[in-house]
Amino acid sequence: MSRRRRIYEGKAKTLFEGPEPGTIVQYFKDDATAFNNQKKGTITGKGVINNRISEFLMTKLGEIGVPTHFIRRLNMREQLIRQVEIIPLEVVVRNVAAGSFAKRFGLEEGTQLPRSIMEFFYKNDTLGDPMVTEEHITAFGWASPQDLDDIVALTLRINDFLFGLFLGCGIKLIDFKIEFGRLYEDDMVRIVLADEISPDSCRLWDLRTNEKLDKDRFRRDLGKVEEAYQEVARRLGILIDQGPGDVRGPTTLQ
Ligand code: C5P
Repeated sequence: MSRRRRIYEGKAKTLFEGPEPGTIVQYFKDDATAFNNQKKGTITGKGVINNRISEFLMTKLGEIGVPTHFIRRLNMREQLIRQVEIIPLEVVVRNVAAGSFAKRFGLEEGTQLPRSIMEFFYKNDTLGDPMVTEEHITAFGWASPQDLDDIVALTLRINDFLFGLFLGCGIKLIDFKIEFGRLYEDDMVRIVLADEISPDSCRLWDLRTNEKLDKDRFRRDLGKVEEAYQEVARRLGILIDQGPGDVRGPTTLQ
């Protein structure tokens, strides 16, 4: 790992140059941050589980025709992905009011929304990822109107598919954040799903009890963070029997 060229060091992932041109190795770390980096910690084994969950969800989405950057998982913590030009937007879909949305509109967490609501945030840590509209996105050139049409259409399909998939495992998909990139291939440019989909980037509640099975357990010091991530993997049917091999034991360090 150390001999490869590091391209980008993110909060939860590191990107390395891939084995072939146009490929990248995405390494999943155990590091966790929240509230724009103000809260930092480690969730032991998170990287291993998120690698598996993201592989599973991206593969399933690929099967229904959603183009993604995912190529294949390489090992416990790494996956091979296509190099894309990341569009600097966080696309958030909300099915139920929670988090910043519940706060912004004075709604009780758990309030069912009349329909799924899509929001865009400009990816910029210094500015604290401000919410933006399609006007800002096209005026500042972060995405063209055509790019945005593709992003909206793909995001709606992703929400419908993931909502049903999680429902089948007894989990309610409250909200999630995804990112897209431009894939340059054979003189063509395509918008593809990028980054990751995991309990770091989704709110997932147990269908029956509303127990939180996602990063809110870390954000809000609810405890049993690793167990929640493992439970999601287990319900998706992808947890390795004896647990991830390089997980020594559940501990949350802050
Ligand atoms: O905090 P907020 O309610 O706006 O988050 C909405 C959804 O987007 C949540 O599922 C959260 O995990 C995800 N999110 C994310 N990365 C961010 C901000 C939000 O994955 N930087």
